[in-house]
Amino acid sequence: MDDITALILDDHAAFRRGFARLDDARGEEQLTAVWEALALHLEIHAEAEERILYPHLLKRSDDAEEETDDAIRDHNKIRDAIAAAAAQKVGSDGWWKAVWEARTENSEHLTEEEDEVLPDFRKHADMALRVSLGAQWLTFYGEHPSGKGLTFHDKDPKRYIQENS
Ligand SMILES: [Fe+2]
Ligand SMILES: [Fe+2]
Repeated sequence: MDDITALILDDHAAFRRGFARLDDARGEEQLTAVWEALALHLEIHAEAEERILYPHLLKRSDDAEEETDDAIRDHNKIRDAIAAAAAQKVGSDGWWKAVWEARTENSEHLTEEEDEVLPDFRKHADMALRVSLGAQWLTFYGEHPSGKGLTFHDKDPKRYIQENS
């Protein structure tokens, strides 16, 4: 089975490819097809991290509170940008502005996760836990095809940390 950090990296690579695909998409139909799949994947990924990764990080590392606070704030900014794009006509200036906000917030966030959060988690979680969380991650995706049954909403970072520490 896969280690959860490898599965997260796979998703991050998919996000970078998704945004690159948007550069090549032409016309409303192509833009909609690429963006809707990418936006949904971003939402499911953040929800999966908030349910499966960060609660375990919070219980293990001294730096986890700050890292988690940053991550929830970033996830909220990405969710807000996705919601802002949904309120605009695909391909319009307002839509591109919101999509670019999602892109730049996401790029910054991936770097923080890859350079701070995941290294910290690897240091504090043994391979058995990483594999067990990897299995939970795959099950979560399997149980919520195309996000079925999930609702995506911003979370209060302080409350999240309190509830999951
Ligand atoms: Fe992530
Ligand atoms: Fe994240």
